[in-house]
Amino acid sequence: MRNADLVARDLKSVWHPCTQMKDHETLPLIPIKKGKGVWLEDFENNRYIDAVSSWWVNLFGHSNDRINNAIIEQIGQLEHVILAGFSHEPVVNLSERLIEVTPEGLNKCFYADNGSSAIEAALKMSFHYWKNQGLPNKKHFVNLANSYHGETLGALALGDVAIYKNTYQPLLMEVITAPSPDAYLKEPGETDEAFALRQFEAMEALLAERHHEISAVVVEPLIQCAGGMRMHHPIYHTKLREACDRYGVHLIADEIAVGFGRTGTLFACEQAGITPDFMCLSKGLTAGYLPLSVVLTTDTVYNGFYDDYETMRAFLHSHSYTGNPIGCAVALATLDIFRDDRVIENNRRLSACMAESVAHLADHPNVGDIRQHGMTLAIEMVKNKADKTPFHWKERRGLKVYQHSLTRQALIRPLGNVVYFMPPYVITEDQIQHLARVATEGINIAVRD
Ligand SMILES: Cc1ncc(COP(=O)(O)O)c(C=O)c1O
Repeated sequence: MRNADLVARDLKSVWHPCTQMKDHETLPLIPIKKGKGVWLEDFENNRYIDAVSSWWVNLFGHSNDRINNAIIEQIGQLEHVILAGFSHEPVVNLSERLIEVTPEGLNKCFYADNGSSAIEAALKMSFHYWKNQGLPNKKHFVNLANSYHGETLGALALGDVAIYKNTYQPLLMEVITAPSPDAYLKEPGETDEAFALRQFEAMEALLAERHHEISAVVVEPLIQCAGGMRMHHPIYHTKLREACDRYGVHLIADEIAVGFGRTGTLFACEQAGITPDFMCLSKGLTAGYLPLSVVLTTDTVYNGFYDDYETMRAFLHSHSYTGNPIGCAVALATLDIFRDDRVIENNRRLSACMAESVAHLADHPNVGDIRQHGMTLAIEMVKNKADKTPFHWKERRGLKVYQHSLTRQALIRPLGNVVYFMPPYVITEDQIQHLARVATEGINIAVRD
């Protein structure tokens, strides 16, 4: 089969995610035949380094032998079973392991099958917890400007990225939006930490005034990924944890994108030294293999639901594939790799290499910022470096970087004007250097008028 054959069939039958399908009249769709390690390969032997980990999910490369074997082993034993009234070994083992590796105090695991669903479950749990406590007025959620938490209606309502949200606004619950600690917005000469503390003042004031009606604050710790890989200082979350405790408001940490090492620690919350009331995980949970997500929470929250059936305090929420055994087996294999291969320690070398590889771009006249947290690095293209004037979104400058990358054996998929690397952890230093060269060429092409 040639690429064109599959593409022709695809365009007749598939509606692709997050895509204006008309773009494919001019923008080629890339049919992938196989993947190995960081490489994706099409039907004509063209290869691409997956610099975006296939939407931030892949951790240890495509078709990883250890994960493949875990699937084969599990599939011969049990592919799926209802998790209400029944249980199985992989879900128990995984829950024990997640409780072990996440911040102290998260002791219960509730499963779903994608990131947005985990967010929805956490929102419902938070509201329902307060209701069970006799506080039904705590029904509002606070988010941060420029946040993203998924596409289902509840998760979308919590987000603040206009291109995804605006169209559906009439369908969405109202949320209360606080200013973001996004360090890109700081004043010249101000440190990331000072800016985060300054931005926190508005959150503090908001909680002081409205805590009676607030159920939870929802954050993406350290990196607002879909919001353009915008990054901030962990002090914000340390302060937020203290304030949430003071005002009796839950803290929901959405680590769906940043969890599992993307920020340099296994979980971003570690850098703020906090335990949220709810932690949502997905994506890297199964190293990019299978749809699985989990909400971890505390004994306090769990006990708020624990009562006689007739009290209607139970969390009557479910998804058909909750706690799928194959997904859990993959997640266990993923945690084994983290432990056995000392992944977090070894990633430090890769992070340093990523930083060095693009250091030359700091002086580029159309680069407004280079930022990094661990294994995530972003380069912001700007029209005017002095005042960071952005290129207009309609110019689609990032798309030019993407198109160039495909001609140079790389899949770099900018978010608007932001070129970023969030590669699988099996990438080599040579491959990082290659990505940096391709990104530099791509930026030079994209910023030409
Ligand atoms: C921070 C964050 N939360 C939630 C989601 C939604 O996850 P899913 O796409 O699996 O629904 C995403 C997806 O990119 C995300 O980045």
